[in-house]
Amino acid sequence: MTVTISAAINSDRLWQRHMDMAEIGATQAGGVHRLALTDEDIEAHKLLMQWASTRGFSVELDAIGNMFIRRQGRDPSLAPVASGSHTDTQPKGGRFDGIFGVLAAFEALEAIDDAGIKTERPIEVIAWNNEEGPRFVPACMGSAAYAGVEPLDAMLASQDPDGISMGECVEALKAAMPEAGVRRLGAPLHSFVEAHIEQGVELEANGNTIGIVTGMQGYRRFRVTVTGEDAHSGTTPRSRRRDSFVAATDMAVALRALLWDNEDIVRFTIGRFEVFPCGISVVPGRVEFTIDLRHPVAETLHTLGDRISDICAAHAGPCEVKVREFINSDPMAFPDSMVSQIETAANRRGFAHQRIYSAASHDARHISTLCPAGMIFIPCWRGISHNEAERAEPEDIAAAAQIIADLFVELGNA
Ligand code: GLV
Ligand code: MN
Ligand code: MN
Repeated sequence: MTVTISAAINSDRLWQRHMDMAEIGATQAGGVHRLALTDEDIEAHKLLMQWASTRGFSVELDAIGNMFIRRQGRDPSLAPVASGSHTDTQPKGGRFDGIFGVLAAFEALEAIDDAGIKTERPIEVIAWNNEEGPRFVPACMGSAAYAGVEPLDAMLASQDPDGISMGECVEALKAAMPEAGVRRLGAPLHSFVEAHIEQGVELEANGNTIGIVTGMQGYRRFRVTVTGEDAHSGTTPRSRRRDSFVAATDMAVALRALLWDNEDIVRFTIGRFEVFPCGISVVPGRVEFTIDLRHPVAETLHTLGDRISDICAAHAGPCEVKVREFINSDPMAFPDSMVSQIETAANRRGFAHQRIYSAASHDARHISTLCPAGMIFIPCWRGISHNEAERAEPEDIAAAAQIIADLFVELGNA
């Protein structure tokens, strides 16, 4: 299929939008700290709203705080073609993870508007709420609730470490954007494409601009609570200690041994490890830590994940341990139809490309349960991500936006 009408991406405008967004929550080391629905994240939503309003695009919010920017189609009753990602970041994250997918889609919308192209279907940019998950559990909450993978009530009840609920934050977002209309959760989408930085080194190593994502590995996340007893560090002999730190570190060492594979395929991370009450002279009575486990083979992910609880119990010593799983997502594959369509679009534009498997997880996982979905990766410098030093190149960013624009026109008239 050929693109008969062309919408040209404005690379400078797109880059400038990235830099403007990067100022919201900017860190000293050049990264961005913008956790989901904090004041900074709400400001980012408001900036998007401002850009959308200038263009005359309409904006809606749904019950979990997802944001939808729509350029109307000839037939407003048709399900929209959509593209987007997320505005939130990891603590001290980078300038591209998430926001790139939103801004590339927005640039595609603007380019189509500039070219005066009409589409049958509405076309939409979506900012999914709380993709990263360090403030509110679980991650990918907005897309999961939209797709009906997670129940709305439970998601709204999720609290941050200060006891603020997601429900309160969604209300704050709505109050900050009174002009936004209401989107029904789960309203049909015709198709969805998410652009994202690769967060790995394959594209860079192969000199390719575009990765066409074939699927995503699965992941499971656990919260482990180890309970012992606070005690005086000078007067309490080993025989009377119930030291939760000792038990938790024994568990961590045993888990590392269990999850060690020579092939380096299993991904095992303890990213959060908190010691309470955290006094220099107190034997700690409580430790909380998280486990993030990932694997591309469902059976292996199940088998390894199912052993975590027993391993922790076996190393609890005089302490008690509770293991609670809060994410369990199998590996998934995108439909061939979307993979080929993106591939054809990359070919047509002459971008060097390859198929690629995602080791990270993304909102497109959940949306693919709702409609045909696919993903486009671009290289990121040395694969560095979830890091303030994250970097992507303006021309790669523009290439992804160009593919989205082409797909918008194509699928918007399908
Ligand atoms: C996404 O941020 C992930 O952790 O895979
Ligand atoms: Mn992301
Ligand atoms: Mn991320």
